[in-house]
Amino acid sequence: MKPVLVSGIQPSGKLHIGNYLGALKNFTGLQNSEDYQCYFFIADLHSITEAFDPKEKRKQIIELCADYLAAGLDPKKSVLFIQSKVAAHSELSWILNTITPMGELERMTQFKDKSLRQEENINAGLFDYPVLMAADIILYDARTVPVGDDQLQHLELTRTLARKFNAKFGQTFIEPKGLLTKTPRVMSLKDPTKKMSKSQPEGCLFLDDEPEAIKAKVSRAVTDSGTAIAYDPEHRPGLANLLEIYAALTHLEPRAIAAEFDGESYAELKRKLAALVAGHFAEFRMKKKKLLASPATVMKVFDAGSKKATKIADAKIAEVKKKVGFVA
Ligand code: ADP
Ligand code: TRP
Repeated sequence: MKPVLVSGIQPSGKLHIGNYLGALKNFTGLQNSEDYQCYFFIADLHSITEAFDPKEKRKQIIELCADYLAAGLDPKKSVLFIQSKVAAHSELSWILNTITPMGELERMTQFKDKSLRQEENINAGLFDYPVLMAADIILYDARTVPVGDDQLQHLELTRTLARKFNAKFGQTFIEPKGLLTKTPRVMSLKDPTKKMSKSQPEGCLFLDDEPEAIKAKVSRAVTDSGTAIAYDPEHRPGLANLLEIYAALTHLEPRAIAAEFDGESYAELKRKLAALVAGHFAEFRMKKKKLLASPATVMKVFDAGSKKATKIADAKIAEVKKKVGFVA
């Protein structure tokens, strides 16, 4: 049996190149390596911990499903599903809640950041978010979880909870590990000291941005006032970020890209990068448009995947219920 790999993304807005280079591109590569049994899901339960409109939510779910397929995730190779369609995620998260110390959740940086960002909606779900994430993962006996580096603290908690459950109720869960890409933290084009995030759309390159929009955003990307192109993340984070994106899309090293642009201007680098990004996602944009022309077909793929996931998850939750004494 191949080792299990699980990951998910929240349907909470358009994907940006940070999501792609930190997560989605890796999902496809890992799937195609055929080294893992892969499960990729739409984290809709997580996404309602932030303000949302139900009609818009449905659209975001369909759109993220199309993103997964357009990026190359393949239902013949991976189980593709929707978190809320597999009831065991919610059930296990409740049980895990009862072994989760409040103090551990209070330490979570994502909770602290989001609480500052949404002061009017600091709900219990936002606090409990990492426990549901732990359930998502250990329910499938996953060993490997490809994510961006902002999720590593949640994975640490996942391991703690798996260990705690095993110690208390007997060996049941595997302790998973995170898997990062070479670009686990793409920075905002507007502020290279902050990570690119949907919550700050001005700094994002979205995967379905048209070439004109990409060109405009890249040309306005914040860099330092130097002139020579060199890779120096500490002193020239804006330029380094552009070189890292360039490198990730060409499978080269940022330093090699900097050397290639030796003697050229920042403007030239930006022009070439914009063309590279626009070209790289041309096929993605086309596939996504086609998929979205027939949302029912897209959702059928995920309904079938959700049934497969339910079978696996139900067997595990039955084992958990036995271990905690709910059934004989
Ligand atoms: P956002 O922070 O934009 O709301 P999500 O939390 O939905 O993004 O993240 C989805 C996936 O993309 C996660 O695995 C996350 O770690 C990764 N990710 C998000 N932003 C970045 C980034 N700027 N660089 C690299 N990976 C990222
Ligand atoms: N918390 C992740 C994010 O914000 C999404 C997520 C939910 C996830 N459950 C997961 C990622 C399980 C990996 C495994 O991006």
